[in-house]
Amino acid sequence: MPAVDFMSAQPSGTQALTVAFSDGSQGQYSLMWLLDSCPEGFHPQTGERAFDLLSVPDAPLLRSASILVDGQLKLQWEHDGPASHFSPAWLAARRPGEQMADAAAVAHQYWKAADLATGAPRHDASAILTDDAALMTWLVDTKKYGLTIVQGIEGKGDASMAIARRIGFLRETNFGQTFEVINKADPNNLAYTSLALALHTDLTNQETPPGYQFLHCITNDAQGGGSVFADGFAMAQVLRDSDAQAFDILASTLIPCRFFDRECDIRIRKPVIAIDDGGAIQEIRFNAHLVDLIDLPPQTIDAWYRAYRAFMRLTRDPAFRLSFRMASGEMTAFDNRRILHGREAFNPATGNRHLHGCYVDRVEYDSRMRMLDRN
Ligand code: OGA
Ligand code: ZN
Repeated sequence: MPAVDFMSAQPSGTQALTVAFSDGSQGQYSLMWLLDSCPEGFHPQTGERAFDLLSVPDAPLLRSASILVDGQLKLQWEHDGPASHFSPAWLAARRPGEQMADAAAVAHQYWKAADLATGAPRHDASAILTDDAALMTWLVDTKKYGLTIVQGIEGKGDASMAIARRIGFLRETNFGQTFEVINKADPNNLAYTSLALALHTDLTNQETPPGYQFLHCITNDAQGGGSVFADGFAMAQVLRDSDAQAFDILASTLIPCRFFDRECDIRIRKPVIAIDDGGAIQEIRFNAHLVDLIDLPPQTIDAWYRAYRAFMRLTRDPAFRLSFRMASGEMTAFDNRRILHGREAFNPATGNRHLHGCYVDRVEYDSRMRMLDRN
């Protein structure tokens, strides 16, 4: 943003201040917001808000607003308390109702299989591990498409964990801090069998399912076992455009999701599609294996099934399904709350299949992007 100066600051009514900037723009700022936001109210070292909102009257009164010789805006209040000071650039960047620029905000590029005909974007493990710019490029791509492949991973599980830890803390779950996707003798999860897995997102039974998932292929030499991914946001958008009623039902109906085994019984009621306050698709929570017995009332149950089956049908449409075979030393990185993943069945009598997995939550991921941008 080009440098701006204050031109004027005039009360508008008793609750607001209209500020005019030198670029011709202006903003109307609430007096309560100005008190609550002024830099004097924040701890100088921790940066946390120290100001007590109830220390000022319901309707704070402004005694005077003046532009100082150094270009700052000074607000003096009628109640006891220090004056507030604002720089023009700071206030111009925080206009009422506008969101601040965010280095972690990356526009989602929805995709169908044909859009990634040459495969998901590929990034080199060694660059991600050693070069912050390469790490940022990978994070941007993984957020944009929801899916990338990291190649050239040397080593076993620890090597992919080191890559995930370049982003932030691993998200521990009931399956551990990391998990081994192998055909187990006593599985507590269909992933730990050799069966096919229909497209799904993981851990839909959690209050907040893990944000980003990393599946590192250690061995994949059994017959079968191909991977499949699809952009859940793209499918939800197609549903929204073609069958708005089904979309609205999936976005507004809470359904029970459950995982249980000998050690836990974790349940939550959430919708299949979550939208943010601006109406944008924010999350897909889709895992047919973890949907508990549907307990909707008779008046809504059939409409919900119709909507759910409409979305499920889209997950079977080849146009959305990106299929490829993971090779040893490769890792898929994907937004588990956007991208659906699955696999073909494999034949354990013909070889081994072993993936090593872990998760990093969305807020950790976004924090790393902001820190990389800060450097
Ligand atoms: C999982 C999973 C996919 C695969 O572990 O959650 O979906 O390819 N695995 O084995
Ligand atoms: Zn899974």
